[in-house]
Amino acid sequence: MIIANWKMNGSKELIKDWMDFVSQNIEINQEKECILCPPTCYLYFTGTLIKQSYEGIKLGSQHCDSVLSAPLTGGTNSQMLEDAGCEFVIIGHSEQRVHLKESNQILSDKLKSSIGMNLKPIFCIGETLRQKEANQTNDILIQQLDAIPSNLLQKCIIAYEPVWAIGTGENAEISYIEEIHSFIKEELKNKSNSTNYISVVYGGSVNLDNCKEIYSSDKVDGLLIGGASLDSNTFTKIFNIS
Ligand code: PGA
Repeated sequence: MIIANWKMNGSKELIKDWMDFVSQNIEINQEKECILCPPTCYLYFTGTLIKQSYEGIKLGSQHCDSVLSAPLTGGTNSQMLEDAGCEFVIIGHSEQRVHLKESNQILSDKLKSSIGMNLKPIFCIGETLRQKEANQTNDILIQQLDAIPSNLLQKCIIAYEPVWAIGTGENAEISYIEEIHSFIKEELKNKSNSTNYISVVYGGSVNLDNCKEIYSSDKVDGLLIGGASLDSNTFTKIFNIS
């Protein structure tokens, strides 16, 4: 799967143009899903367009609140996301972990709530540079994975995004990605007590030059792309050569 995380970018016009171009130029198949995550305010617009004309593209949200009902100004719950046409939701992105001060308990509630509405969570984990340099990466990842109730692991997609690689132009080396993905996959196997497959995708400065090498690894099940997903031409090329 190739996931476009638009963060706080876009407009109705850009979304429409992007979907027109991408849907006409990508080679979609069952194995490789194309998932667009626009800002929350454009979800309904994007979901409606997908239903009308772009069936190959799937909709994901960048945000979901942890409860279905609360007097929460600015809140968006998983039921609303489902209603807008979402199939996926990004949970635990490092930018949100920092800005919203999300604890494991909150993240766990978000996972339960979204899975309860049949949304597929893309659960982000990753270490900061300081943690990497202190050799704490594995401990941090274990701690972050603990937010997922073990009976729900099979329903999640895990996105490994080293914080130091996000938006910096410095992607992790393929050997490092493979080492960490192997570690995550082993942890998931132990935690879920099952041999069922759980996808682990990579994110962090994926671009046209590095996407093929990263995606072709058998340890990598997909890509989560921020900056390089905004331009429809670049995204299409990444999708097709990955
Ligand atoms: P980036 O962002 O591709 O711009 O590094 C990835 C992400 O934050 O998901």
